[in-house]
Amino acid sequence: MGSTGDHHVALIAFPFSTHAAPLFSLTTALATAAPSTTFSFINSARSNISLSKAISSVPSGVKIRVYDLSDGCPEGYIMPAHDPEEEVRLFLKVAVVNVRKAIEKAVEGSGGIRVSCIVSDAFIWFAGKMAEEMRVPWVALWTSGTYSLAAHMYTDFLRLKIGENALPSRANEPLDCIPYMSPLQVRELPEGVVFGNLDSVFARLLHRMAEALPSATAVALNTFQGLDPALDNELSKMFKLSLPIGPQHLLTQQPPEPADTYGCIQWLDTHAPATVVYISFGSIMSLSPPEAVEVAEGLEASGIPFIWSMKPAAQAQLPQGFLDRTRGRGMVVSWAPQLQVLGHSAVGAFVTHCGWNSIMESVTAGVPMICRPFIGDQRLNAGVLSRVWKIGVGFEGGVVTRETVEMALTEVLKEEGGRKMKERAGELREMAIRATQSGGSSSDNLDALVEVIRGY
Ligand SMILES: *[C@@H]1O[C@H](CO)[C@@H](O)[C@H](O)[C@H]1NC(C)=O
Repeated sequence: MGSTGDHHVALIAFPFSTHAAPLFSLTTALATAAPSTTFSFINSARSNISLSKAISSVPSGVKIRVYDLSDGCPEGYIMPAHDPEEEVRLFLKVAVVNVRKAIEKAVEGSGGIRVSCIVSDAFIWFAGKMAEEMRVPWVALWTSGTYSLAAHMYTDFLRLKIGENALPSRANEPLDCIPYMSPLQVRELPEGVVFGNLDSVFARLLHRMAEALPSATAVALNTFQGLDPALDNELSKMFKLSLPIGPQHLLTQQPPEPADTYGCIQWLDTHAPATVVYISFGSIMSLSPPEAVEVAEGLEASGIPFIWSMKPAAQAQLPQGFLDRTRGRGMVVSWAPQLQVLGHSAVGAFVTHCGWNSIMESVTAGVPMICRPFIGDQRLNAGVLSRVWKIGVGFEGGVVTRETVEMALTEVLKEEGGRKMKERAGELREMAIRATQSGGSSSDNLDALVEVIRGY
């Protein structure tokens, strides 16, 4: 088994949104397990800034070098605000050349050790072709849920069955052309599969990714065996090697959360178990001002204690007097230590945008969710939470009003339905913890991944 020290793994991030963090945490786990292997993490300077905490908390003795990947933005070009398509379009235009350059730099930086394995975010679909040319394995990391992955893998089939312009006529039809998707609906699919702009940058990227993934040596997934049994089976047929290694935040070391500046935990300590709702839509999404007002009024009417994490600009748009009237009963903060908050016994519900990382964190804490999805895979995730795992609810009719907010909060925190959800969430929590413990499936899969990158 002697490791020769000649292995060199190049890891390529998708340098947008929250994609780089899970790949970096995987890098840290692999580098910890394979100390004699060289690890080169390739990421744009802008995205690298968001990793500074993770980078500085890499355990000593674990060596990961970070290399710059151009984001393709011409010098002096002013990126239009709120246009994620444009920045990704610019990046992809020159990404193949730039990734090659970065790999050359990494080889130089390692003293000439040639790259023996490429690990990339699954969005970097062209890494498969590069790996093939270099005759080395390609490992892809899919950072979202398995249902949305299946939807992308089945895009051609879905377009054939449902068409390419399915809204509004077929919006509420079940996705029963794929049996295990029948609890989900056409309208819940990500944009660009059977409706929306099928030719958008993201739609094309995901389509090419779906073509590329079956040739990957392994596809790593941030989920755990048993969470979606039908999909475990399906994905292991679809891919050469399907490796669920989640919940990743349990399996791999996380940078410490910043200090709890607002005292959320201390405040939660004064509350009875499962009585508080935590509200956060992540670092990118936010409610429209009128919706935020509805949520505020629904919260007030419900009488339920809350922690609401929102940006200062959004706080300014809360109804007049709301903060005064709810003082003592609720906290509005600019930031909350989400893992600790969800992990606190006082928290009984999480109002979320249904981003995959938030869902994994809530599942691991055994906390039921109230879903307000926005874009991409979030609607599908919300459907899975309410109708497959049955640990979540949406807002009645899909609209956020004072009444639907009050109803959803009451159902999850005060009624029998919510108690059942909490019970099921508790079972999933146990499964997640077992999977990541020594001898558990995710832990074993991580070991298998280490063997892949070391060429065994
Ligand atoms: C990436 O970020 C780390 C930590 O902030 C920093 O030390 C490093 O120089 C950066 N690397 C590149 C290539 O930008």
